[in-house]
Amino acid sequence: MNNNHKQPTSIVVFGSTGDLAKRKLFPAFFNLFLEGWMPDEFEIISLGRNNQSQDEFKDYILENIKEFSRIKDFSEEKWQIFKEKIYFLQFDINQEDSFNQLREKVENLDKKWNVRANRLFYLSIAPSFIDKVSKSLKNHHLAEHVEQDRLIIEKPFGYDKATAVELNNLLAKTFQEEQIYRIDHYLGKENVQNILAFRFGNIMFEPLWNNKYIDSVQITVAETVGVEDRGGYYDGSGALRDMIQNHLMQILCMVAMEAPKTFESTEIRDRKVELLKSVRRIDAKDVNHYTVRAQYTKGELNGKMKPGYLQEKGVDPHSNTETYVAMKFYVDNERWKGVPFYMRTGKSMAEKKSYITINFKDVPNTTFKNGKSNLVPNVLTIDIQPETSIKLLFMTKKPGLDMKLKPAEMIFDYFECAPDTPEAYETLLLDALDGDSTLFMRSDQVEEAWDVISTIQESWQNGNDSEMYTYPVGSNGPEAADELLKRQGHFWLDNSNITDKN
Ligand code: BG6
Repeated sequence: MNNNHKQPTSIVVFGSTGDLAKRKLFPAFFNLFLEGWMPDEFEIISLGRNNQSQDEFKDYILENIKEFSRIKDFSEEKWQIFKEKIYFLQFDINQEDSFNQLREKVENLDKKWNVRANRLFYLSIAPSFIDKVSKSLKNHHLAEHVEQDRLIIEKPFGYDKATAVELNNLLAKTFQEEQIYRIDHYLGKENVQNILAFRFGNIMFEPLWNNKYIDSVQITVAETVGVEDRGGYYDGSGALRDMIQNHLMQILCMVAMEAPKTFESTEIRDRKVELLKSVRRIDAKDVNHYTVRAQYTKGELNGKMKPGYLQEKGVDPHSNTETYVAMKFYVDNERWKGVPFYMRTGKSMAEKKSYITINFKDVPNTTFKNGKSNLVPNVLTIDIQPETSIKLLFMTKKPGLDMKLKPAEMIFDYFECAPDTPEAYETLLLDALDGDSTLFMRSDQVEEAWDVISTIQESWQNGNDSEMYTYPVGSNGPEAADELLKRQGHFWLDNSNITDKN
């Protein structure tokens, strides 16, 4: 932390009446405020289309804070102070006059604080508005101080590699790359950040972190939610774009990248880009061999019947959009040559659970291979959510007179030592206030991640012969995803089968 987050700052939220602002942004700013991280001088200029009074908007924010904030127990006095720092501005992106008013507002704040304050623009808007907003910010000279003015943007960063390049070029006309903070909220999750601490802050693991000792790696991000009211967006996206290209690729980078020389933004992001470049591109003709896609069909979850994907609101009843993807990747570098990386993600599954397993090889000696012992290979599990823990499965002697082995688990539980850890958005907003872009995505990283999946996208789009499997709501996904691993004698690991011979 550079302490830049303590500089006076005008925070401008485009889309302040939208879902993200309501559930994540305002609660995150409020929690940062309660815990003393916000600058003494800041104001959140909240832009929205509706005509409403300051009081109406602030009451709406309070309601959302009460519902979604991590910290629910706060004093009226604190809210009164925070409330004074919110300012609602009725705003029409297409009206130059709206930008004039915004300019006047931030300049007045500069005068009030007697300093040219930092400016943080949060673009929580549909991608189609980004062009207009960034041009108007430029024309109205709102974000000209490269070291002080920052822009946070939300995914989707394009629809494929070509559109991502287009978006990056467009932003580059107005902003320097160091002003652009592309958010991937998975990078703000505590145990995703912890991967680097775990790998590079301990001598014990890094020497084993390669193809000599690791047999395979699995990354699972399973959700119980379906597409809910986002059918319109999701049907044009699908699990590959919505989750694999960003969140799972970022997790892959954290697990597999080489050691950064220093813990600095450029250095870390360079290592990630290198890793993405080393991911072997899947040949169009092999897409079916390496991937499985599927859609959920109606089924029961937590005692309730849920509709199938094709029956969801906003979804084309003949849609070919996948809600589940499982795939296998290889990383062609010295460290990972020959090690399969399996990934899977899906909506409407039995359990919400994101975790990584690092599956080690069998022991190379024959000491305990005499039939008396149930030897299973070591597994390191990194639970991202809802549990936040690291578990190491290892063999021990079963207590007793004879020499029998059994697997045991060593567990580090984050919640036990820090039950109230900050939410991802709190971490990321604070980093953006601070001017630290380490956990944000650089343009080349985004483009490279699209490149990794481009042949899969094309092949699915062109209606090749790859099957659209199905799985009922509340299940663990299609059987075909199990087959993908079985071919190499592997299976998806979870708590229930981790001690089986994998
Ligand atoms: C978002 C996706 O980026 O991540 C959503 O667009 C998904 O479809 C969400 O549900 C998952 O985030 P989390 O933090 O709930 O795992």
